Amino acid sequence: MKKVHLLTIITFLFSSVYSQKAGHKNEIISIIPQPVSIIQEKGSFTLPYNIVIFTPKNDEVKRIAQHLSRQIKTVTNQVTIKEGTSAIPRSILLSLTGNKNIPKDGYQLKITTAGITLLANEPSGIFYGVQTLLQLFSKEIESTVIHQKPDAWVLPIATIKDHPRFGWRGLMLDVSRHFFTVAEVKNYIDQMVKYKFNLLHLHLTDDQGWRIQIKSLPKLTEVGAWRVERTGTFGTLSKPTPGEAVIYGGFYTHEDIKEIVKYAGDRFVNILPEIDVPGHSLAAIASYPELSCTPGEYYVSPGDRFMIWPGGGQHFYGLLDNTICPALEKSFEFLDRVFTEVAQLFPFEYIHMGGDETARNFWEKSEQIKALMQKENLKNLDEVQSYFVKRVEKIINSKGKKMIGWDEILDGGLAPNAAVMSWRGMKGGIEAAKQGHEVVMSPSDFAYIDYMQGDASIEPPVYSTLRLKKAYQFEPVPEGVNASLIKGGQANLWTEQVYNMRHAQYMTWPRALAIAEALWSPKDKRNWNDFATRVETHFGRLNAAQVKYAPSIYDPIFEITKKDSATIIIKLSTEIEGLSIHYSFDNSFPDNYYPVYSSPLIVPKDASALKVITYRDNKPIGRLIVMPIAEMRKRAGIK
Ligand code: ACM
Repeated sequence: MKKVHLLTIITFLFSSVYSQKAGHKNEIISIIPQPVSIIQEKGSFTLPYNIVIFTPKNDEVKRIAQHLSRQIKTVTNQVTIKEGTSAIPRSILLSLTGNKNIPKDGYQLKITTAGITLLANEPSGIFYGVQTLLQLFSKEIESTVIHQKPDAWVLPIATIKDHPRFGWRGLMLDVSRHFFTVAEVKNYIDQMVKYKFNLLHLHLTDDQGWRIQIKSLPKLTEVGAWRVERTGTFGTLSKPTPGEAVIYGGFYTHEDIKEIVKYAGDRFVNILPEIDVPGHSLAAIASYPELSCTPGEYYVSPGDRFMIWPGGGQHFYGLLDNTICPALEKSFEFLDRVFTEVAQLFPFEYIHMGGDETARNFWEKSEQIKALMQKENLKNLDEVQSYFVKRVEKIINSKGKKMIGWDEILDGGLAPNAAVMSWRGMKGGIEAAKQGHEVVMSPSDFAYIDYMQGDASIEPPVYSTLRLKKAYQFEPVPEGVNASLIKGGQANLWTEQVYNMRHAQYMTWPRALAIAEALWSPKDKRNWNDFATRVETHFGRLNAAQVKYAPSIYDPIFEITKKDSATIIIKLSTEIEGLSIHYSFDNSFPDNYYPVYSSPLIVPKDASALKVITYRDNKPIGRLIVMPIAEMRKRAGIK
């Protein structure tokens, strides 16, 4: 007995000495998105207390060095930035090179016991390499709290070669349904660049608010940026009452936009502005009702039921006409003014004109639309819409920009130079690519991060679900299309049900990690189990950065069916491996001493709810889910 004890102690001592010398706390490299190649060797490199970062004579790289320096300083190291290439030992060298083996936006990062070398052909590659380097540091680097531990940064010895699969790696933030301040947008950019996203699509206009100052059309923000305040479920909220104060809203001034664009540009992020027309335009119509085919009084919607949303993007039916009228010349004069200012403010080569979900039931009745159809020989409302989109494209092209729109712009014939953002699945993108147009894939079934990420009994309610595992299956290039036309993809965060930035973060992370990997990493490097393990490491980093994320991967998946007209069958599973599911039917709180789920359950007679919770290593890890039997009966189709 004594011998065993001694051996255990010796082994323990040896291994702890070994791990201090040769390893470090985060021995397993856990980078998201997964790089093209990582060669890890034994050993580690500890940053000295006084660190020198060498940079070339390049302002962008110097700025990146300052960013790296700020992060490193959270452990009180002294950091000096120096121009030069002859690095002293144990320093960090950022170097621009002309290496043909490094593809566009790629980098090579080498960490040896002698120091760190990061090579790239452009500053963007240095920026991405620094994001990878930061992920090799322990999670404390994400924290803004100063740690009183000099010499604490220990990095693995490794060589990483990396470059992106796609040039368009985007997230969309809907700032119309709920408004997010400049500081919040900057914070969102800070988080996305850690995962090598390079595009932020701002959905600037919709029925619930116009969020960009257009100096030649002041009412857009005097009227269109404000609405009555409501809290609850979108589409069921009460309408404005007469005289009610319009206190909710906000908009970006030209100065704000310039600030966002500069902030994003400094981080190699393009801002794609979206002005959503002809549908989704109630805020514009409330500001300038003369742009409607249907004269009347309009208001900025607080999320009331002014429209019937059938789902799937088909057959929208307006109870109010929320469209810009294609039959009026003044509509195009209006859009010319809007796009003149938008084109001046945003340096990105594309402008998004929306084009989705246009309710056309008012057009059907409009004499002006009928006259337009006759004059322009338009056979149906698809062609009316296509006429509108083509004219918008001419305006956007005349400002020196390319146009992109949601896949409805295919209906009735695509505008000659337009790119398509495919959201109703991949089919719009496939069709556009077949016609030789550029495509960005953001299919709702893989990339809609406004959907719930777990069971409806615990997630804030939204009309559909997209789990992390499904998001991870996003493959932007479908079989049989010209891959060079697929520019990349993006995840979209609509904010009808997102009232604040903390919840925007919850909806974004971790699903944006899956999308980041789909857009950056080689297809053959993707592996769900490996990714899921890395995601868990990154939960620690998100915690350190005080960013909220959804822990839904720890909650069970319910599959509810019926055996006969009275018997519910409950199948439970988990998205990730290694969890045990414990349950009760007696209303008490299950813990790890309760029955563990191993095969489908049948509800005991007269039970009113199933409670479940997941454990790992005898610790609760999922959230307690209370599933009423009545809800399960509904899901099983039992009356
Ligand atoms: C969309 O989701 N309506 C583009």
